[in-house]
Amino acid sequence: MRLRKIKDAEIKLQQYPQYVVFDPAQHYGRWLTFFNNDYPLYLEIGMGKGKFIIEQAARNQGVNFVGCEVYESITLRAVRKIADKDIGNLKMINCNAQDLDKIFAAGEVKKIYLNFSDPWPKARHEKRRLTSKDYMDIYRCILCDNGEIELKTDNPCFFEYSLIQFNNYGFHFTDVSLDLHGSDRENIITTEYEEKFLENEQKIYYLKVKK
Ligand SMILES: C[S@@+](CC[C@H](N)C(=O)[O-])C[C@H]1O[C@@H](n2cnc3c(N)ncnc32)[C@H](O)[C@@H]1O
Repeated sequence: MRLRKIKDAEIKLQQYPQYVVFDPAQHYGRWLTFFNNDYPLYLEIGMGKGKFIIEQAARNQGVNFVGCEVYESITLRAVRKIADKDIGNLKMINCNAQDLDKIFAAGEVKKIYLNFSDPWPKARHEKRRLTSKDYMDIYRCILCDNGEIELKTDNPCFFEYSLIQFNNYGFHFTDVSLDLHGSDRENIITTEYEEKFLENEQKIYYLKVKK
């Protein structure tokens, strides 16, 4: 995501303790205690400016949502969108997905969303793809039995790569679409990137797998 860096974003994030969890590893294994309910926990990795997870949280009060984003400036843009709102079932964490197994205990997460993850097309960058081996190991660990992953992308090569990865890691496919918005699904919550691709009439690839 090519966005201007916001000066002192890390410090500015501290103005939003209601939404930003500054030391997320302290809640390892105790996220439900933190949310003070027994609702399932859904995690979006690479939430960008947050449109998707904010709408999900507003529509699904019986779910706890955590949005993960590696860049401070982008996390800040996301949290600023909800600064004056009171959305109790949403928290944001500014961290790299490679640390998620230090933040969530085994089986603590019910669903993971991977929306328009950077495709990293060059073979030498494979390790950076959010469906490469090290990330798959983390997802398998933190997801509960029958836990799910939903992935959307505009990139056919990344989609194909991810299909093979999920298959090789023993996930069961419960839904696949090569044209998500051309299908008869209703009430699709879109992301910022998705809106741009739809404007250009690009097809969106989608898959849902179960552990
Ligand atoms: C292409 S953007 C998509 C943003 C948003 N999901 C959307 O669809 O509009 C990918 C996002 O993932 C974030 N990201 C990339 N690698 C990450 C990682 N290892 N951990 C957390 N976030 C990551 C990027 O900073 C960026 O905001």
